[in-house]
Amino acid sequence: MGINILGIGSYVPEQKLTNDDFKKFIDTNDEWIRTRTGITERRMAGWEPAWYMGKQAALEAIGQSGINPDEIGLIICTSVTSDFLTPSMSCIIQNEIGAKNAASFDLNAACSGFVYALDTASRFLDTDPSLKYVLIVASEALSRFLDFEDRTTCILFGDGAAAAVVERSDKMYSSYLAADGSGASSLYARSLSVAPEIAVEKEFDDGFEVKDNMHRLIQDGKTVYKFAVNALPAAFEQAAAKIGVSKDDMDFFIPHQANMRIIETAAKKLGVPIDKFVVTLDHYGNTSSASIPLALCEAIRNGTVKKGMKIALIGFGAGLTYGGIIMEY
Ligand code: COA
Repeated sequence: MGINILGIGSYVPEQKLTNDDFKKFIDTNDEWIRTRTGITERRMAGWEPAWYMGKQAALEAIGQSGINPDEIGLIICTSVTSDFLTPSMSCIIQNEIGAKNAASFDLNAACSGFVYALDTASRFLDTDPSLKYVLIVASEALSRFLDFEDRTTCILFGDGAAAAVVERSDKMYSSYLAADGSGASSLYARSLSVAPEIAVEKEFDDGFEVKDNMHRLIQDGKTVYKFAVNALPAAFEQAAAKIGVSKDDMDFFIPHQANMRIIETAAKKLGVPIDKFVVTLDHYGNTSSASIPLALCEAIRNGTVKKGMKIALIGFGAGLTYGGIIMEY
């Protein structure tokens, strides 16, 4: 069983942050950022909560689908930058869009979140005949969790949201989800939880570095880079092997948008020409779980990806997680 994307939508904040803007507070320059990452600018959420960006993307996806919000049976939101620990972002969006019949939960697989959520949706649709439509919303306000004094990390990320309405179909479909928790401490941000004064204190090394700005994103860029250049090809190859398709059957690859050099290396390892890879990181940076659906949405909007085309969504991220979906748009 496969899935059909009925509608897709996106939202990015109005405020742009160019590479030159970073020169105001860190020692960097446009040339370094462009040549090392491929990023020129990214968006930054000022007043917009992450749930609000997700809601706007969801409304566009629902509008394009031609369904009523009350026909949605399940909402899955993905985010590493939720506005609240609880309630879930999906419950807030459920109320905001009037999807009163939708069960709602959040899923955190970091930048692989959309791939994980789409596959979760396909499994719900496969096992529950009463479920017609699933809404997936990926929304990230990473700028609120960045250390703007850490020049190797803060220049990489941007804010934005994208959403898709999916239904079951008999189109081609395969997926592969994976994780390697041994790399968890190479990319992380702590929650802001603090033990009360009456709690028993004891030295405890949890394996994650403790810094003053403890909820900011901390990254070992080189370790993540090495993981990513193998994870992206593996995500495709493992999903492809399950249904006996090859790279040559694919019209487009929509990879996680982290770094152009990672995408180029993955393309080379797969033996796929780079022009078969959709790239939006130059103007959005890395928007974590929103990056794959944002790229897909843009490729559909500008006519690159058309109905009937075979596409591969391949992602990696903190966790460390990775995964791929092969499907027909
Ligand atoms: N501007 C100018 N110079 C910078 C800089 C910046 N923004 N950031 C780092 N540098 C400097 C470093 O201080 C270092 O200087 P030194 O040689 O004098 O010590 C030099 O540039 C090289 O730094 P390095 O960290 O070796 O660069 P790199 O080529 O490994 O690139 C990343 C760094 C972060 C771009 C790269 O490792 C990467 O993309 N990793 C993967 C990150 C990722 O994908 N994360 C998302 C996962 S979902």
